[in-house]
Amino acid sequence: MNISIIGTGYVGLVTGACFASLSNSVTCFDIDPKKIRLLQKGIIPFYEPGLENLVKTQKNNKSLKFSLSTKKSTSFADVIFLCVGTPQSKSGNLDLKYIMDYVDSLCNILSQDKLFLSNAKARKFIYIKSTIPPGTIKLLVKTLKKFHLDSKIFISSNPEFLKEGSAIQDFMKPDRVIIGASHPMAINIGKDLYRPILWKSDRMLITSPESSEIIKYASNSFLAMKISFINQIARLSDSVGADIHDIRKGVGMDERINPHFLFAGLGYGGSCFPKDVKALEYILKKNNIPADLSSATIKINSDQLAYFFNKILRFYQDKTIANKEFGFWGLAFKPNTDDIRYSSAISLVKLLSKKVKKIRDYEPIAYKNASDELKDFSNIIFVKTPEAAITNSDSLVIATEYAEFWNYPGENLLQLRDKCIFDGRNIMDKENMESFGLKYFGIGR
Ligand code: UDX
Repeated sequence: MNISIIGTGYVGLVTGACFASLSNSVTCFDIDPKKIRLLQKGIIPFYEPGLENLVKTQKNNKSLKFSLSTKKSTSFADVIFLCVGTPQSKSGNLDLKYIMDYVDSLCNILSQDKLFLSNAKARKFIYIKSTIPPGTIKLLVKTLKKFHLDSKIFISSNPEFLKEGSAIQDFMKPDRVIIGASHPMAINIGKDLYRPILWKSDRMLITSPESSEIIKYASNSFLAMKISFINQIARLSDSVGADIHDIRKGVGMDERINPHFLFAGLGYGGSCFPKDVKALEYILKKNNIPADLSSATIKINSDQLAYFFNKILRFYQDKTIANKEFGFWGLAFKPNTDDIRYSSAISLVKLLSKKVKKIRDYEPIAYKNASDELKDFSNIIFVKTPEAAITNSDSLVIATEYAEFWNYPGENLLQLRDKCIFDGRNIMDKENMESFGLKYFGIGR
């Protein structure tokens, strides 16, 4: 199939490259000339394991192309994936401008396209991957009706659930593919598109557009709620001297609960959870439904950082900390991504930098984005190894759980002058660290 991808950000690029690898001819469109120029050279503007290779291979095969002219996207393909951004205001409301503008311009072009109008078989199928509030598809159909194109253009919801750091795997082996469509033709095209990756498992669910739109918000908010829940339990665990690792295991053994997304830490970050929980809170309120669960999830998440930060301040009793130097491991919102959007690690290092003499940051992947973000913090320096971060430091903070930190030898950490580790991701073995004479502070243990 010929496929146009509109918006070549994270979701758009992964979707485009993966569909190209499934024997489709894909063109990715974007309005950003810098981004398109880079992609035409095979350079990926962000880090995602395996993506650069996949893009290069499909580009060389000529099954993946990049273009600036979104106008061309209407003639190039009958299948169009909308993956544009939906910026959020402080209240949680989403700005659907880019989606509305695209559908508007598509209608403008096609309503004057005599060939398209006169060909009884000509159709366009638009699938929206951007996360959109319930009712958006209905609103877009109104635009189609205004242009008398509602029998030739079909707009459906097809939310994306991929995770940064494992995006290709998530796309190619999805837990589920949701198609929120009202027209049988849009459903059948959706089934055809995903057949190569779903033929072994029946993991496609066809719903109404509204249900599909809600599924995405409900999924992300539920996962975020699990994280806030375990973070609150971790505080209880701290105050009575229990161990959150055991609690997570014990609770997660109940198959109805499961142990996933129950890791206590610095709270959730990234480009999706903070935005989607806030949006669901807004949507519920707009529909006159109390949004208590969403509000509590957000509140616990934002308090979690202060909770951990206070552990550091309490240890130093606020007085001596001004003369202290800290090693700091990890700044990305999670491992294996260069994304620092809503990263708890970034918020924490900013708070800490106001209190201490010096911070030596080690961040293996998001180094560039993090150093840009922190360029005005004069007491934060960047180093190239975990060792360099702890050398001449008094204490260590772990803020992102990169694999290289998990089994870091305790004896190397003994060089920390105050022999103190603040583990914001609970990855170190507490007993092992204490057996070396180190003081260990996790969350909930
Ligand atoms: C998320 C969803 O998982 C994905 O389905 C959706 O398409 C986009 O949003 P992503 O933002 O890539 O994916 O990250 P994810 O792995 O879900 O982690 C989100 C945040 O939660 C990270 O900050 C992570 O550190 C935190 N987290 C995750 C926890 O604090 N505890 C956990 O147990 C799991």
